[in-house]
Amino acid sequence: MKREIIKTLDGSTTIHLQEWDECYHSKHGAIQEAKHVFIKNGLSLFEGNPVSIMEIGFGTGLNAFITFLESIQKNQVIDYVGVEAYPVEADEVLGMNYVTELGALEFENIFEKMHKCEWNKKNEICSSFSLTKRKQFFHEIDDFETFDLIYFDAFGYRVQPELWSTEIFRKMYKSLKPNGVLVTYAARGVVKRSMIEVGFTVEKLAGPPGKREMFRAFKKV
Ligand SMILES: C[S@@+](CC[C@H](N)C(=O)[O-])C[C@H]1O[C@@H](n2cnc3c(N)ncnc32)[C@H](O)[C@@H]1O
Repeated sequence: MKREIIKTLDGSTTIHLQEWDECYHSKHGAIQEAKHVFIKNGLSLFEGNPVSIMEIGFGTGLNAFITFLESIQKNQVIDYVGVEAYPVEADEVLGMNYVTELGALEFENIFEKMHKCEWNKKNEICSSFSLTKRKQFFHEIDDFETFDLIYFDAFGYRVQPELWSTEIFRKMYKSLKPNGVLVTYAARGVVKRSMIEVGFTVEKLAGPPGKREMFRAFKKV
């Protein structure tokens, strides 16, 4: 599929898939979306505690890098697993401007390390942040009560409806520890119904700039 690097409205880059007319992040602002959906409405619930996170779609590593920066700022221990079947190529990673846009030049080596580190192995990125990049299809996930938080960042329902199915959300539910949380940028009724069907309690929150709503789902037990 033909891919191009484009700038989103907050100045941060993303990858655009021409055939699907789908981007790795919101066109309204990749960094803004990541901070709002995954940090403000996800990670911040666990402030002060060690947290284990699974990301559905490691992609460009933006969410992982922003989460790392939070862990430094908040002095929080984070165990991060990024699941990805189609790793982004090294030259595309070089085209992403996240380090400068986030004002994180002192951590440029960390962004590089996240991409260069070995797949399918736990890597100590620094003493408080470990990263496991799992080269795996989402339908192969079979973790059990392992994660506190899931960043559900698959491509949209319009292009990959099968990833927003009860089959996948059942796996997510199983992977979460009791009282675990899943956050996603999506806000479609059909997605909410699948989440509820597998046992999640779902709430609608205000979305990031350019999107009205988003979902947060709890594994309440
Ligand atoms: C919206 S992008 C993720 C963006 C990423 N979170 C970031 O910060 O750059 C969705 C990702 O899911 C991956 N993907 C698509 N279908 C998949 C599947 N069936 N199994 C595993 N990964 C898949 C894509 O390669 C892509 O990297």
